[in-house]
Amino acid sequence: MDILGIETSCDETAASVVRRHADGSGEILSDVVLSQLDLHAAFGGVVPELAARSHVTTLDRLVIQALDESGVALDQIDAVAVTSGPGLIGGLMVGLMTGKAIAMAANKPFIGINHLEGHALTARLTHAVPFPYLLLLVSGGHTQIVLVKGVNEYERWGTTIDDALGEAFDKTAKLLGLGYPGGPAVEQAALEGEPRRFRLPVPMRRDPRLDFSFSGLKTAVRQLAEAQAPLSQQTISDLCLAFETSVTSSLDDRISMAMQRFSERFGTGSGPALVVAGGVAANRAIRATLESRAAKAGFRFIAPPLNLCTDNAAMIAWAGAERLAAGLAADALTLAPRSRWPLDQTAAAVIGHGKRGAKA
Ligand code: KG4
Ligand code: ZN
Repeated sequence: MDILGIETSCDETAASVVRRHADGSGEILSDVVLSQLDLHAAFGGVVPELAARSHVTTLDRLVIQALDESGVALDQIDAVAVTSGPGLIGGLMVGLMTGKAIAMAANKPFIGINHLEGHALTARLTHAVPFPYLLLLVSGGHTQIVLVKGVNEYERWGTTIDDALGEAFDKTAKLLGLGYPGGPAVEQAALEGEPRRFRLPVPMRRDPRLDFSFSGLKTAVRQLAEAQAPLSQQTISDLCLAFETSVTSSLDDRISMAMQRFSERFGTGSGPALVVAGGVAANRAIRATLESRAAKAGFRFIAPPLNLCTDNAAMIAWAGAERLAAGLAADALTLAPRSRWPLDQTAAAVIGHGKRGAKA
């Protein structure tokens, strides 16, 4: 089964062709991603209108490129899968209209994909991970712990009650005068940090809900920074390290509790997996901590390659393939985009809602 995937929910314009073999394994035949990072950098964040305009001008050519590189002709494609939410509404509309037009002209099934489902199922494309498994999604727009039980079967166990983790990195970087995106800048600065100089609280530690919170931490960094002004390079590094240490401890605490809950319900006999996804999964301190915590809990630690952790269309094509293979129906061409679209429809909304409505 060969699926054309399209992703335009935030600031990456992406197209991909993914093949699902009869044995359930996946193969990426092409994976084209155009980042709009330069377009938004001057504004210190994604500007929705600019993002949508850029998707309009680049998507056609990226789809053609993805088809060319895959060696699969459009008439041999089995379905067109497009991110239909959550994300920035302008970008979603561009992707959906393009995908629908292609599906209609080529007379192919059309499937609207939840962007979070794309992230959730990527580990099955890269590592053939069996259900059920635990997913930690840490990106610029989302911070969630999800139980992935099967295709279309997700339980959200925790989410952020205020900022997403990537967003917290970005805001911290901004207030310390570091560049955008902030995550890599904070990580880099933290390498030179003095470990004992500043101590920040660990948000949500031992809280029985599996939620996250990062905005208080960001405020604590701001207050420390104001007290230390003018900031030397060393103080900036020390603050970055304190921030990174605190968020790493918070993730460690939350994910330990989640793995324990998972083990109580499913056992650990099958060597269950902890999967990470999202741009923040690039952070080495976070990765190392999660990896050792997973090993202690008897879990395999799985981190898809970075280009598949961050936004891409291969994950959307793959989610389309998984859905078709699971016997789920394709969508009508009247399908509307949804800027908000929880993966787990039964999960209660949380105060602060935990997303800035942009990235996932
Ligand atoms: O998944 P992603 O590329 O885009 C979406 O949000 O969908 O994630 C981007 C986020 C940004 O907030 C960025 O600052 C953060 O991931 N990030 C990092 C690192 N690299 C990227 N955060 C911490 N450490 C990093 N090395
Ligand atoms: Zn995403």
